[in-house]
Amino acid sequence: MKPAAIPFNRPTIVSRELHYMSRAILAGHASGDGPFSAQCQELLQSLTGARHVLLTPSCTDALEMCALLLDLQPGDEVIMPSFSFVSTANAFVLHGAKPVFVDVRPDTFNLDESLVPAAISPRTRAIVAVHYGGIACDLDALLSIARAHSLVLIEDNAHGLLGTYRGRPLGSFGDMATLSFHETKNFTCGEGGALLLNHNRLLERAEILRDKGTNRKRFFRGQVDKYSWVDLGSSFALADLLAAFLLAQLESRDLVQARRQTIWDSYRSHLQPWAEHQGIILPTIPNNCDPAWHLFYLVLPSLQARSRFIAHLRTRDILAVFHYQPLHDSEMAHTLGLPNQPDLPQTRRAADCLVRLPFFTDMTEDELDRVIEACLSFTL
Ligand SMILES: Cc1ncc(COP(=O)(O)O)c(C=O)c1O
Repeated sequence: MKPAAIPFNRPTIVSRELHYMSRAILAGHASGDGPFSAQCQELLQSLTGARHVLLTPSCTDALEMCALLLDLQPGDEVIMPSFSFVSTANAFVLHGAKPVFVDVRPDTFNLDESLVPAAISPRTRAIVAVHYGGIACDLDALLSIARAHSLVLIEDNAHGLLGTYRGRPLGSFGDMATLSFHETKNFTCGEGGALLLNHNRLLERAEILRDKGTNRKRFFRGQVDKYSWVDLGSSFALADLLAAFLLAQLESRDLVQARRQTIWDSYRSHLQPWAEHQGIILPTIPNNCDPAWHLFYLVLPSLQARSRFIAHLRTRDILAVFHYQPLHDSEMAHTLGLPNQPDLPQTRRAADCLVRLPFFTDMTEDELDRVIEACLSFTL
């Protein structure tokens, strides 16, 4: 009998998700900011070291909240990598910023800190650092650039919950940071996210923005006698029903991360000699980083080689997928009339040559062996 296909991702129920969800329903609080949200936020705060954590319906929403907290004025610019998900740019454009795209480093595909100073103008307000695959950007360099130019540093940490830089958790470095709990992530509730704030002064406005522009939070705390419309805002709170699911996932973090690290290490040790022989590059982990074990990728020498590799795995019913297409050369970038940039070579290389292998928490040994075997049988 033909073995079952191996998907790129398979969301995993790890422990008490369904039990907690039924408790949320029975407790009669399924909407935002219930007891499960409070527990998740407290746990995330202790795991990341962030001052404040607010759950959101997605990382995209958390990024939009960052944009609103920046209070952007027309013409304001935000620096970000071109090799990222659409939301990294869209969230800021939606709230009035002009994105300024910078190339990524050839080793980690993170924002190339050496190119950031030249991208700064009098209109720059913020730098968005994406920790690609949950491996940290050079945060020492980015923080010192941000400080020297009075810019806000935002960590788009969609991939990197529990990753660290110099032993400190990602999400605790920027003025603000975001997380994703989309079903492709290590910890999920289907769709979900969080906004991390590292300044007390940002909290009150963030609470209002998240609560449809009202001061309802202050009302619930007894600080005002009624709540009303006081600012911009939207519906940026995660349903407690989903926070219940998420809490169970977060409580199982040691199990999840240990399994994911084993899969990552297994890919690395089995594929290294083959990759070296073929001129294929495996992920680099800089010395001062502990990864979040979010994804495992290969960098092939060309687009054509990558297409052949993906097709080769597909003949074995294995789904390997490429990642972001360059934002600076997207249809939307052209629609926005952004100045034509010379091509960004490492962004182009990542878009054309990088491929992600199947990687999910409940991947079986048999599935892992099949993917490794399929890779090893590929020659350029
Ligand atoms: C770097 C990055 N930022 C933001 C997002 C958006 O996350 P979400 O789907 O939770 O909105 C993603 C999605 O995968 C991403 O890769």
